[in-house]
Amino acid sequence: MRIGIYPGSFDPLTYGHMDIIERALKVCDKLVVGILLNSSKNNLFSLDERVEILRHCCREYENVEVMSFGGLLTDYCKKHKINCIIRGLRAVSDFEYEITLASINRRLAPDVDTVFLMARDENLFVSSSVVREVSRYNGDISTLVPPHVAEKLKAKFS
Ligand code: PNS
Repeated sequence: MRIGIYPGSFDPLTYGHMDIIERALKVCDKLVVGILLNSSKNNLFSLDERVEILRHCCREYENVEVMSFGGLLTDYCKKHKINCIIRGLRAVSDFEYEITLASINRRLAPDVDTVFLMARDENLFVSSSVVREVSRYNGDISTLVPPHVAEKLKAKFS
């Protein structure tokens, strides 16, 4: 059985992430969405809020489990018998960071492969940071995030 993990900060979840989750389910039998527990980052949404948002937005996918993790991703993979890491790629600018991450992860866990999925054209410029910025100034984010996330953002900035 191919168990994948789609790790990230998801602060907040975007339609770009949702697209990668849907497509990862065609590559993996089961997908863990792994939300990074990272106290050094100044997140907009708390870990509990992000877990709730992800669980709500993925509630219709039987084979998706939303979890949080701390420490090394590869340690989490080994512990939970995860054999593939899913990452989304948008522009070339993502590549340098992603190749570093994938290379280090392979060195730490040679049996865990990283699989890259290209973002759809309409999501090439969708990022959590863009969503936070537009939302902060009350811009229209309806094409960037699911309605549940839009509600949470509205409450955050009201
Ligand atoms: O959404 P992000 O912030 O780009 O996701 C980054 C993430 C969570 C994939 C990455 O920071 C990560 O895997 N962190 C856990 C620590 C780790 O294993 N780092 C890789 C070796 S340096």
